[in-house]
Amino acid sequence: MTAILETRDLVKEFGGLVATDHVNLTIEEGELVSLIGPNGAGKSTLINLITRMLEETEGEIFFEGDPITDLEPHEVVQRGIGKSFQTASIFPELTVEENANIASFGAEHGSFRFNFLKHRSSYPAVQQRTLDTLEAVGLRSQKDTTAADLPYGDKRRLEIGIALASEPALLLMDEPTAGMSPEETQSTVELIEDLQEEMDLTILLVEHDMEIVFSVSDRIAVLNRGSIIAEGPPDEVQGDPSVQEAYLGGVEL
Ligand SMILES: Nc1ncnc2c1ncn2[C@@H]1O[C@H](COP(=O)(O)OP(=O)(O)O)[C@@H](O)[C@H]1O
Ligand SMILES: [Mg+2]
Repeated sequence: MTAILETRDLVKEFGGLVATDHVNLTIEEGELVSLIGPNGAGKSTLINLITRMLEETEGEIFFEGDPITDLEPHEVVQRGIGKSFQTASIFPELTVEENANIASFGAEHGSFRFNFLKHRSSYPAVQQRTLDTLEAVGLRSQKDTTAADLPYGDKRRLEIGIALASEPALLLMDEPTAGMSPEETQSTVELIEDLQEEMDLTILLVEHDMEIVFSVSDRIAVLNRGSIIAEGPPDEVQGDPSVQEAYLGGVEL
């Protein structure tokens, strides 16, 4: 297997606080790796460094063998790193289809603002991408629904769809089931499994629900106070004493 993503001694400091502390994380192509750890461990910071929403203090990040630390966030997306975030990337007043269309258009042309008129001829390609994306996340039958009117779980699905429209090789998901009902959580977990298996996606998942983490992950990395304290297949990580300790008083693993 080839490493699709590699961070080398990645450090992020906020003032005096070390949010990520020499993190070395490697993700192989096709893997589903979960990043877990107590609140404030540095999980979101690590994701934001990979997407270049944050500038590192020290260290390097490689995607498909190339350094990406000099890239802008939109360039990272064009390289093939997609993200689905807790914060909404949805336009609530537009329909599901229109939301997916905007994401597809951006993916086809890099910047839809400048190319919208020039590339009218490639509109069918955009439309196809939109419909494929909605199909993948199970929202095709709701394409004409205004995004604001979607149930919560479907909104989150649409966000995942928006991330998929750029046809990423690596999908980063920061707590995709946060705030979902048990039914919505279950269907999102199934979606994540489908994405990995049927769409050949490599996934880095941040998830607080241990039941989900232990059932879907190929590998788990445990972050505590900015450092990776354990890493391995679920059964190994589950029995690791340092992991139990990091969660002391918290989640029972
Ligand atoms: N923009 C920021 N400015 C200052 N401190 C931050 C910022 N973002 C995160 N932190 C701090 O960095 C640490 C790690 O945060 P975060 O990555 O959000 O943790 P997690 O996602 O694991 O809960 C926390 O102590 C948090 O308060
Ligand atoms: Mg977080």
